[in-house]
Amino acid sequence: MNSARPLFIALEGIDGSGKSTQCRLLTENLRKSGVDVYGTFEPTDGQVGTFIRSILRNKAKADNRTIAGLFVADRLDHLLNDETGIVRKLEWGQTVVTDRYYFSSYAYHGTHMDMEWVIQANSMSASILRPDANIFIDVSPEVCMQRIVAGRESPELYETLDNLLKVRAKYMEAFDKLGPIENIVMINGDQPREQIAADIWQVVTSLQGH
Ligand code: ADP
Ligand code: TYD
Repeated sequence: MNSARPLFIALEGIDGSGKSTQCRLLTENLRKSGVDVYGTFEPTDGQVGTFIRSILRNKAKADNRTIAGLFVADRLDHLLNDETGIVRKLEWGQTVVTDRYYFSSYAYHGTHMDMEWVIQANSMSASILRPDANIFIDVSPEVCMQRIVAGRESPELYETLDNLLKVRAKYMEAFDKLGPIENIVMINGDQPREQIAADIWQVVTSLQGH
């Protein structure tokens, strides 16, 4: 695949749905086909993102509304940082694949507060960069929870079955709400890794033609 213009792709899903795995496979596949690609993630490893991770690991405490605000700041830095920002990467011609973007905020914080507030609070990010595709890897919360329990010493703040059920429902609500203005792609995540990667590859190659 030859990159005519750089793409901005966001992978979304509840915790344990296989996003990190698929981000890695997608960046590898893009690289193999000669595309200059930058893989990234939220929360970021910048100062705000690092503070967010300490809250998620119960090392610091904050109200859920404060956490939503911190993600707004982390996302703006993710876009606008002079050295590592996504806007720069795209300007330099790199295709960007991010593990989570603003739909994560709509879903995770929409469970604690009015989703409309979260959407408005992220409107600056949306006006700066709307992804070419928001790819949702759909796996049942029960399966995700089993994977999390098997793979982690202690689950993070939002990693309970009850919360993952709510978050998945909020993702669906956000997709319904914003479907007319966003490119949302649903992928069946209940398949072997390679099949999911092939499904995502098909989506990305079809975008390349536009
Ligand atoms: P996320 O980034 O969404 O939390 P990961 O990519 O870290 O998800 O995957 C969570 C766990 O599930 C990991 O142990 C990973 O090896 C495993 N996993 C990923 N994709 C699949 C799959 N398609 N089938 C079974 N297990 C998977
Ligand atoms: P992540 O490291 O992607 O977790 P995982 O690999 O388990 O999927 O994200 C950490 C947590 O941050 C995850 O529980 C979702 C949450 N999160 C929010 O609450 N709001 C956001 O805007 C984002 C990007 C993530």
